[in-house]
Amino acid sequence: MNINFTFEDAFFALKENKLNILKQISEDILNKVLQKNGRGNDFLGWVNLPETISESDFENIDKCVEKFSDKSEIIVVIGIGGSYLGARAVIEALQHSFSHFVKNDKPHILYAGNNISEDYLHDLLDVLNNYNYSMIVISKSGTTTEPALAFRILKKHCEDKYGYEEARNRIIAITDRSRGALKTMANKEKYPTFVIPDDVGGRYSVLTPVGLLPIAFAGFNIRELVRGALEMQKFVSENNTFDNNPVLQYATVRNLLYNDGLKVELMASFEPQLFYFIEWYKQLFGESEGKEHKGIFPAGAIFSTDLHSLGQYIQEGTRQIFETVIAVENAHHKVAIPHDSEDLDNLNYLQNRSINEINQIARKGTCMAHIEGKVPNLRIIIPEINEYYLGQLIYFFEISCAISGYMLNVNPFDQPGVEAYKTNMFKLLGKPIVK
Ligand code: PA5
Repeated sequence: MNINFTFEDAFFALKENKLNILKQISEDILNKVLQKNGRGNDFLGWVNLPETISESDFENIDKCVEKFSDKSEIIVVIGIGGSYLGARAVIEALQHSFSHFVKNDKPHILYAGNNISEDYLHDLLDVLNNYNYSMIVISKSGTTTEPALAFRILKKHCEDKYGYEEARNRIIAITDRSRGALKTMANKEKYPTFVIPDDVGGRYSVLTPVGLLPIAFAGFNIRELVRGALEMQKFVSENNTFDNNPVLQYATVRNLLYNDGLKVELMASFEPQLFYFIEWYKQLFGESEGKEHKGIFPAGAIFSTDLHSLGQYIQEGTRQIFETVIAVENAHHKVAIPHDSEDLDNLNYLQNRSINEINQIARKGTCMAHIEGKVPNLRIIIPEINEYYLGQLIYFFEISCAISGYMLNVNPFDQPGVEAYKTNMFKLLGKPIVK
């Protein structure tokens, strides 16, 4: 296991007696998660998911990628929430920062069904007029409005462009094994279909075909991703004490800080490629913990960008934030500061130093400033961004989230509050009531 976690920069805000009580509780909760006997335990399939993924699962994904990639310059991934964010988190973390300008033999991945913007869909269709494409439509329930609307529009576009028969060869469905409108359509049209296991909820589904298929289409190594997650799964199950398990430390410390009035966790990274990883974290923790009028609000930031927008508030605003930084030690490429004979910008003192070295120092300086501003800092450290470490990080956050949710005494695996806006929207739209 290669992830390091430190909370030394939060010591000043922690009370030892409270920490000692919660330590013990965290260990009991971990056992409950591993034995799958807590609240919502019919959605704990993700706990041992990494070890259940077989070589034939990978091969099915490989075959599908091979079959569709040749004819597709673009793959559109249609889905929302847990049926979208995990794939995007990993793809955007790994792909070239300007991927649309880089030619390679892999299809570009575009996304639909994660909003209801007419202009977004118009612009997407505009692009799809000029490229060959296929699509993956993902919905566990098979009935979510945003992806269903986008799918109807894209399916029609695809049929108009390629004809009905060929369009059927450009659509892949990922859904429940037996229920929902998408399953019914997939059966009728004989789309290649992958199943989301019953006991894995949307936001925990990145290591099922929901995440693995789009990630494989983008050309990334899903075996390494799963190997990383498996490594973390094994580590967590073999190290069940607070002192030797960073997962327990992270879940415990964030709850202690919350209990002492810090209601917002700002997940920050100094690597912009992790923007969507932080979006995935926000959904995972927000939907899992925010219920019964409880829960840490998961916010996100990319530094140093957001130090020039949110930095002032973090440093001196209302004291309600603790910060967790995903620190990445090494960059993949070196860009050094050149010498300039005139030195009009006064930067020669940095000559020959790498941008990553300066980024690391910016991170340390920010942490020092925020501690001075009484913002406790937690730090999750990975050696570099690759499939293997992202796999570890995914499992790290999934299991921390479950433990943290149980500490708050909520069911981390349901999302009753998400229905409220849908009920209103359907009423306002005049959706017929199915009896
Ligand atoms: O985590 C969850 O369960 C949700 O975020 C869902 O993933 C999201 O609402 C999409 O649901 P579905 O896959 O049923 O379309």
